[in-house]
Amino acid sequence: MSDLRAVITVDGPSGAGKGTVCARLAEQLGWSLLDSGALYRITGLAASRKSIEFADESAVSAVAAGLDVVFEPTPTGVKVVLEGEDVTDIIRTEEVGSLASQVAALPPVREALLQRQRDFAQAGGLIADGRDMGTVVFPTAPVKVFLTASAEERGHRRYKQLLDKGFDASLPALIEDIQARDERDSNRAVAPLKPAEDAILIDSTELTIDEVCEQVTGLVRKAGLI
Ligand code: DC
Repeated sequence: MSDLRAVITVDGPSGAGKGTVCARLAEQLGWSLLDSGALYRITGLAASRKSIEFADESAVSAVAAGLDVVFEPTPTGVKVVLEGEDVTDIIRTEEVGSLASQVAALPPVREALLQRQRDFAQAGGLIADGRDMGTVVFPTAPVKVFLTASAEERGHRRYKQLLDKGFDASLPALIEDIQARDERDSNRAVAPLKPAEDAILIDSTELTIDEVCEQVTGLVRKAGLI
């Protein structure tokens, strides 16, 4: 594996604030960012566009292994280009999220994406955002964070996001959905969502994004990485 002196892993359930925190930290530190969820989303999208049945694990993993994808940093965030097409917005839809969670449950797909994820650590510092960054992809990373928040708080955040985008939503249904997803993610056979043994737990329920970033930066400093 490549030099992991400067890899920070941030794992946790969706809605805990990982995406925002990781993007901000990468910018503040001038480090690279691995959004591993995006790789599963892109794989789901690419396989579905090729009309591949998700039951055909080897065909889906061939798509994952051969993804023609480029992550282009821009002043407003990372632009995701799949086979020459800007798919930045499409991969964030609920529909592609559902495709992602189906392909993420296939062991050969996870295997196919492993090296691609590790390759992000080749140059300079890296913030790796996902579910199994500290347990599977970068088990020897010097700083591991498990970022969580209560299901109620994550439901509220999602609710607000949907309303801001002009969508209608039911808060109790969202919270129930999050609880069901937590249960599935934590108990699945392959790469279940769980903190690495040496991960530091941060509960963002009562914290602002800035406060979470400060705590993580403190850990990075303590580890002598900055
Ligand atoms: O974080 P996200 O919502 O973009 O992730 C999309 C899906 O991929 C979600 O179902 C969890 C899964 N995932 C995973 O299994 N392992 C990762 N390292 C990242 C995401």
